[in-house]
Amino acid sequence: MYVCLCKGITDSQIRSAVEGGAQSLREVRENLDIMTQCGKCAGLTKDLVNGFLSDI
Ligand code: FES
Repeated sequence: MYVCLCKGITDSQIRSAVEGGAQSLREVRENLDIMTQCGKCAGLTKDLVNGFLSDI
């Protein structure tokens, strides 16, 4: 599903970023350029990143 509509970024891409070594919300943002326009995706992105980090 799309998480960030501004940048067209999906939850799968966020998972891949975490599995690829991103260890924080900030690193995911830097890798994917997510949350850099309207910011509406920030809450969901944070929850997803925290969930994916606890999975690995
Ligand atoms: Fe992600 Fe707008 S929805 S920055």
